[in-house]
Amino acid sequence: MMNETNYDTMFGKMAVEQGLCTNAELHRCLEKRQSRRKVNPVGLEDLMIDLGYVTLSQAQRLKDTIKESKAAVHRIPGYQILGKLGAGAMAVVYKAKQLSLNRTVAIKVLPKRFTENPEYVERFYKEGQAAAKLNHNNIVQAHDVGEAGGYHYFVMEYVEGKTLYDDIAAGKVFAEDEALDVIIQVARALAHAHSCGLIHRDVKPKNIMINAAGVVKLADMGLARETTDIEAAKSEAGKAYGTPYYIAPEQIRGEIDIDGRADIYGLGATFYHIVTGRVPFMADDPADVMRKHLREQLIPPDHINTSLSAGASEVIEVMMAKRKEERYNSVEELMADLDLVRMGQPPIRARKRFDVSLLEQLEDGQAVEAEGEFPIQQAVTRYRTAILILGSVIAILMLIIILLIFSS
Ligand SMILES: Nc1ncnc2c1ncn2[C@@H]1O[C@H](COP(=O)(O)OP(=O)(O)OP(=O)(O)O)[C@@H](O)[C@H]1O
Ligand SMILES: [Mg+2]
Repeated sequence: MMNETNYDTMFGKMAVEQGLCTNAELHRCLEKRQSRRKVNPVGLEDLMIDLGYVTLSQAQRLKDTIKESKAAVHRIPGYQILGKLGAGAMAVVYKAKQLSLNRTVAIKVLPKRFTENPEYVERFYKEGQAAAKLNHNNIVQAHDVGEAGGYHYFVMEYVEGKTLYDDIAAGKVFAEDEALDVIIQVARALAHAHSCGLIHRDVKPKNIMINAAGVVKLADMGLARETTDIEAAKSEAGKAYGTPYYIAPEQIRGEIDIDGRADIYGLGATFYHIVTGRVPFMADDPADVMRKHLREQLIPPDHINTSLSAGASEVIEVMMAKRKEERYNSVEELMADLDLVRMGQPPIRARKRFDVSLLEQLEDGQAVEAEGEFPIQQAVTRYRTAILILGSVIAILMLIIILLIFSS
């Protein structure tokens, strides 16, 4: 369950999220701090500076951000701040009481640099308004947007629970049924948002929350990204935005006409991660992760988790097709296949898509390279290899028999 976070936790998390140090370095510091707790107690911030993981000025800047946003959040009229809920790469989230309605809410405070960009501020309000019009059980409800002390904030439904990322971080690999249950709920949220003209653009485990009753809530709907996706992607490359494990190829390329299929890709990457325990494309450098999204062939998820059904694996592969034209056209289409897989039946639409892409390739007169093989071809290749091996074994056996006959 989620806890309110103290300064040290916030400092450590933000240092990692901003790419100042690695997660492993943070853990080393936390262990060290724990071992010195009784004899020679030291704050995390000082320890990180001592060990050279962050510089003095980096630490100072981080401290200022945390302090300033805290001061600002206490100045938001009509809300009483109850504590911190967490922090991401760009924002701090607080738990608060909305005094007029006497209800608990979550308030996300954006960094000041966002306020300096009028274009961003305009989008922030526009998308906030659009998000506030949405009403769906699987979407974290947007309540309000505003500005206090130079900081922009976003008031939303408070979710008492955890994020999908918390489960992953605890080492959980989801069984297919449980994964389907989560993914279907997010798909419902997306179908609703898309039907209202809103694209999420940042579907990932950290933005998927699960409340105490097991209801899945998609968070950060309508939270405008910094500028264009390509700039966000570039800053992701600079580790200022977290690592781009779930971003769709067209977002990396900076295409402007991003549609719902980018969300299908993000959800596919999330699905992949929770059933295999691995992100679809792994690399040390975020730029390499993005390069792999663009070019590297996906290892089919059922090759990693062999207990996964072929149907679920195909659905994930179609969700994560590099060309958006080869993905599901809409979330409704995806949901139909997810329902079939849940009932133990083959995903009709995914199969069709495999066939269509295969046909298109053949029509294009392209040689079908081993690298770009589809499951049907893989099956044929495997079949041929099996026959070849069997044939060779029989031939060798015959040879041995003939030799034996002649030698006796
Ligand atoms: N509506 C909410 N109710 C309760 N807790 C929330 C809510 N929204 C966010 N949180 C908590 O605050 C944390 C920070 O959220 P935030 O959206 O700033 O970053 P993130 O999604 O974790 O990561 P990133 O910065 O990479 O997008 C979340 O991980 C979650 O634990
Ligand atoms: Mg978030």
